[in-house]
Amino acid sequence: MSAARIVVVGTGYVGLTTGACLASLGHRVTCADVDESKVARLAAGRVDIMEPGLAELVARGLTSGNLSFVVGAREAVRDADGVFLCVPTPMGAGGAADLRAVEQVVAEIADVLPSGCALITKSTVPVGTARRIQELTGRPDLPVVSNPEFLREGTAVSDFLGPDRIVVGSDTPGAADWVANLYADLGAPAVVTDAASAELVKYAANCFLAMKLSYVNAIAELCERLGADIEPVTLGMGYDRRIGRSFLRPGPGWGGSCLPKDTSALLRIAESVRFDFELLDAAVEENIAQRDRVIAKIAGAVGGRLAGARIGLLGLAFKAGTNDLRDSPALSIASVLCAHGAEVTAYDPAVQGELPGMLVVDNAYQVAKGADVVVVLTEWSDFTRLDWAYMAELMHGDAVVDTRNLLEPRVVLDAGLSWQGIGRPRAGARVTSVS
Ligand code: UGA
Repeated sequence: MSAARIVVVGTGYVGLTTGACLASLGHRVTCADVDESKVARLAAGRVDIMEPGLAELVARGLTSGNLSFVVGAREAVRDADGVFLCVPTPMGAGGAADLRAVEQVVAEIADVLPSGCALITKSTVPVGTARRIQELTGRPDLPVVSNPEFLREGTAVSDFLGPDRIVVGSDTPGAADWVANLYADLGAPAVVTDAASAELVKYAANCFLAMKLSYVNAIAELCERLGADIEPVTLGMGYDRRIGRSFLRPGPGWGGSCLPKDTSALLRIAESVRFDFELLDAAVEENIAQRDRVIAKIAGAVGGRLAGARIGLLGLAFKAGTNDLRDSPALSIASVLCAHGAEVTAYDPAVQGELPGMLVVDNAYQVAKGADVVVVLTEWSDFTRLDWAYMAELMHGDAVVDTRNLLEPRVVLDAGLSWQGIGRPRAGARVTSVS
């Protein structure tokens, strides 16, 4: 396809990744944001988001001239072929997605968009939003297209440039094909459909992943009660191609800026059409139960009394590879521990600064100093390289709770410490052989 003139509104991790990647595919991209200082930083090639490869792509786009940054979208869209809406759609009152930012942008630009310009939603929006945007513009000459993103934080650039699939939907004939074509060079399968179906794909996919994780966490709990080991159990499940091997790691519960918000939004969407989505509801409840089980495990490790216990946390981000703390299970667990009167010290290689109730330190050994228990909450590989014998020397107690099954139990046990994972025998690994 020949280069298109694209405007991306919103420079969060979705917008910036979309803009920089589309520019790298040869399109002429302008990224607009309301935050003047952020625009100035980006225009100078400074990327604040921790996203591998993104700063390099931004720099390349700026040098080639394919990528530019402006404050406000109104002027930028006047000669656009397509406008991507990448503004936040946070969880609003009652759990539904809050669409105010999307509506504000549409109101700001609707009257200056050239006829035929596609308005494309990338932000996760409730089913029916494309129709609503069409009404808001009052302009039948502007096709509205849903093109949900499937980017994971920490691998957003590689997810964008090597996607499993592209999903595009529109009720205007030809518009979805035009958007799908923007990605033609990526060679990914494209699902081209109506707007409502494309909008639903995003929720259906994220909520499926959340259910898969809640299921795995529940199976891990069963493993503990039945004396089985979750590692060979998930290995044995994962070889079944219908199940797949990814997203089978148990943990302290799923979090982040997407899964919690999208599960809640889909429950509200189901409610709005009087469908009782019990299956999804149960997955959300199970996620809360998982967090509570982790807290009970930590309490058990300090003799049942959290008040006054010295607890060292390894990891605060909702997963490794990001500094994002939004809806992080680690933070939620930390705040419950603090509320019970525990003295909490935490270290995360990507997080600095102050957090309420706890002491955030700048290396893992400081976390161990005087700790009754050390808890791994985020699966940073750095933690596997710690000197556990030295950790043991620094600690007051001897308990390690590993909510990511990250550490090699033998290494921890050999250091004279006890080790507990999730869904695993306390003494560590059962022999698992694959032939
Ligand atoms: C998620 C989806 O994976 C993306 O496809 C989607 O585009 C994105 O939301 C979005 O809607 O924008 P992300 O929020 O970056 O991506 O995080 P995930 O990698 O999905 O992880 C979500 C949570 O599940 C984390 O708390 C993570 O630690 C947990 N997790 C993941 C596990 O506990 N076990 C696993 O095996 C995998």
